[in-house]
Amino acid sequence: MSVEHPIIVAIDGPAASGKSTVAKRVAAELGCVFVNSGGMYRAFTWWVLQNDIEPSDTVSVIELLGRTEFLCGEEDGVGTITVGGTRMTRKEMASTQVNGQVSMIASIPEVRERLVGEQRLYASRTSVVMEGRDIGSVVFPETPFKFYIDASPEVREARRRAEGIDDAIAERDKIDSSRKASPLVIAEDALVIDSSDLGVDEVVARVIGSIRERL
Ligand code: DC
Repeated sequence: MSVEHPIIVAIDGPAASGKSTVAKRVAAELGCVFVNSGGMYRAFTWWVLQNDIEPSDTVSVIELLGRTEFLCGEEDGVGTITVGGTRMTRKEMASTQVNGQVSMIASIPEVRERLVGEQRLYASRTSVVMEGRDIGSVVFPETPFKFYIDASPEVREARRRAEGIDDAIAERDKIDSSRKASPLVIAEDALVIDSSDLGVDEVVARVIGSIRERL
């Protein structure tokens, strides 16, 4: 489907709701860059751990943030992130250690402010389909293309297990939804899609259909 660029598509939802898979496919169909904003929080969490800093030591985390450079790029239509000169791999970002600490790091307002700035910079350079928790509600509240992909907790736990990833989904949901800074909320004008009983093709078709209607 050809669309007029630049365009920003925001896809939010809880952990393992299927939003990454959907966002990647939508980005490919629209010719936009797919950006996984959770990967940016994960990358910085990995960097904190690499620097032997306790994620609960907020003062040290903020101090590290101040002297860390982020470089957001693109490879084959997918956003890449380099933190402190190190390009993150998917394996590092999805490690059990990072899964256990990322919600804590993402609840620090200074970290959010910095990464939201990087996300906006990204979209100022190119058309994006960005997925996360606050993309429609906080990062790009002006975009008319907002989606919230949900799925039942049972389905989400099962999806992570099937991927062989050790991830305490319920625990992360609780922290992500109850934190003070930009909690996971459904943007007022977002189209909510429950993917519990839907295949990826169907969710992608609904997203694309809705974008087409609003163009
Ligand atoms: O999408 P994900 O599960 O890879 O995200 C990892 C963590 O990052 C998640 O627990 C909450 C946080 N996150 C966030 O706070 N805001 C975003 N826009 C994306 C992710």
